[in-house]
Amino acid sequence: MTSPAFHAFGKVILLGEHAVVYGCPALVAALSTGVTVETPPGIGRLRVPAWDLDVPPSVYEGGEDSSAPTVAKAFAALEARLGVQPGARRPVDYVVRFAVPTGAGLGSSAAMAVALARAVAASHGIAASMTDIEEAAMASETVVHGRPSGLDHTVSARGGFGVFVRGQGLSPVVAHDPIPLVIGHTGRARDTKGRVARVAELVAGPDGAAVRARFDQIRALVERGRAAVELGGPAGLTALGEAMRENQRHLEALEVSCPEIETMCRIADEVGALGAKLTGGGGGGCVIALAPGREEIVKKVWERKGFATFITEIGARQKVSST
Ligand code: PMV
Repeated sequence: MTSPAFHAFGKVILLGEHAVVYGCPALVAALSTGVTVETPPGIGRLRVPAWDLDVPPSVYEGGEDSSAPTVAKAFAALEARLGVQPGARRPVDYVVRFAVPTGAGLGSSAAMAVALARAVAASHGIAASMTDIEEAAMASETVVHGRPSGLDHTVSARGGFGVFVRGQGLSPVVAHDPIPLVIGHTGRARDTKGRVARVAELVAGPDGAAVRARFDQIRALVERGRAAVELGGPAGLTALGEAMRENQRHLEALEVSCPEIETMCRIADEVGALGAKLTGGGGGGCVIALAPGREEIVKKVWERKGFATFITEIGARQKVSST
């Protein structure tokens, strides 16, 4: 008999990164893939084979000052938030498997936290609500990222599409259809921290008013993108692609792009994508391309240039039964 497994989605920011830091909305979506946590019989070891990590409870229960890896401290915070007492008997191990690249801005750490929270709740017989799962994931993400906006784990837990506003959370967007997307990695680490700092300099600099005017234009693109997702069909996809293309121009002007991102966008354009842009912090990381019916072509040309690529669908929804 196979042991129970628990899932959570990765995410993409379709439109609005960086401007979202200044109060603009961002259009976000769950990936159809993410993270799975398997729970074979065990004693509560946290195992992440992709990172060669295998941490027993005696180590992750050591508290904030212990030498445990950050991910294990994050796990301890998550367990504590769900009410698991130190020294509790744990009947299973937690084995984390990634179906999305890690450290790429695709929400892998949040998806890991959500899937682990679900696995912990189930293995201890805790009847956790969606809010309990989200709060446990937030506790974990706070250990990993310091002060996360909460966007990643909320999308990861709930799935679908949404508009995220800092301080206000996520409002669901009801899409006409899920949307196929091509995601390629620049091969360069994304630089969320550095790029956020650079935008802050631009905002505070002599052209600050022009930068803020750009944020207003991005806000309008997010509105157009949301309407496009709701509309669906060829007209919706064309409008979404156009909004992505325009958003990329603004992101270049905000100095959060990089040569690899621009090469990938140009190549996608040449083979007929409706739109392509960076997703997340930029400076590296991933590029997303909307190319309905031409996904395989975009994948092929990106891979030919050495950019690791996968095709996925966005807007997948969580099945209620698997919480
Ligand atoms: O690179 P990611 O997926 O962590 O996204 C960062 C998004 C920013 O808007 C650049 C920063 C933020 O905190 O919203």
